[in-house]
Amino acid sequence: MNRDVIIACDFSSREATLEFLDRFPAGRKPFVKIGMELFYAEGPAIVRDLKARGHKVFLDLKLHDIPNTVKKAMKVLSNLDVDMVNVHAAGTVAMMRAALEGLTRPDGTRPLLIAVTQLTSTSEEAMQKELLIGAGINDTIVKYASNAREAGLDGVVCSPLEAGMVKQACGAGFLTITPGIRFADAAADDQVRITTPARAREIGSDFIVVGRPITAAADPVAAYERCLKEFV
Ligand code: C5P
Repeated sequence: MNRDVIIACDFSSREATLEFLDRFPAGRKPFVKIGMELFYAEGPAIVRDLKARGHKVFLDLKLHDIPNTVKKAMKVLSNLDVDMVNVHAAGTVAMMRAALEGLTRPDGTRPLLIAVTQLTSTSEEAMQKELLIGAGINDTIVKYASNAREAGLDGVVCSPLEAGMVKQACGAGFLTITPGIRFADAAADDQVRITTPARAREIGSDFIVVGRPITAAADPVAAYERCLKEFV
C-alpha cells in the first residue's frame, strides 16, 4: 500500500469545495476526505462529482448500527465507487463483518474498509466513568483494532502516536490512517495529540489526513506539496 496524503475537505458546500480544489494544477488530483458536514449538505452527488474529476474519495461517515442496516448502507456506498469508508469498531465484530459483506461487489472488488477505535475526543476518564469501559484507553484501542482485523477490515483511524502500537498488535500490513497532523512551525488549533508529516511517516502511518494545515493555508497547493514531500 502506497503512503498518501488525504485532504480533509471540511467545507459546508459543493461550491466551497470546488473553489478550493480548483486551486490545484490540472494534473494534481489529491486524495480527499468527505465528512458528514459536506455529505449531509450535498448528498451522493458531491461524491460523484469529485470521482468524475479524478479524485480518490475517503467517505468518512463512521457507520454504527445493527449489522443488517450497516450491510445495506455499505452496498449503496460501494456502488458510489468511493475508495475508502469507515465504521465504528464499537459496533462489534459482527457489524464489521456485515459491513465488509455489503461493501464487496459481485466482482470481488471493494473500497478499503477502516474502523474508528476510540475517537480522539474521548478521554480515558469519559470512557471509564460515562461508558463504563473499565480498561485503559490504549488497551481499548488495541483491542478494537484487533477486532477490526479479525473481522477482515483493512485498518483503523488512529492518532499518529498510536500507529506504532496498532501495527505491533495487528501487523505491519494493517493500515493506519492518521489525522492530527501539523507542520513543526504551525499552530495546533484544537488538536491535542499531534505530530508532523515526517514523524508520522517514521512511526508507520500509511495515510495522513490533513485538514486546516492545507485548507486554511495562504497557499494550499504549496502546503499540500510540503506534506507530500515530508510524508511520502
Ligand atoms: O483540520 P485538521 O487537520 O485538524 O482536520 C483533521 C480531520 O480529521 C478532520 O476532518 C477531523 O474531523 C478528522 N479526524 C480527527 N481525529 C479523529 C478522527 C477524524 O481529527 N480521531
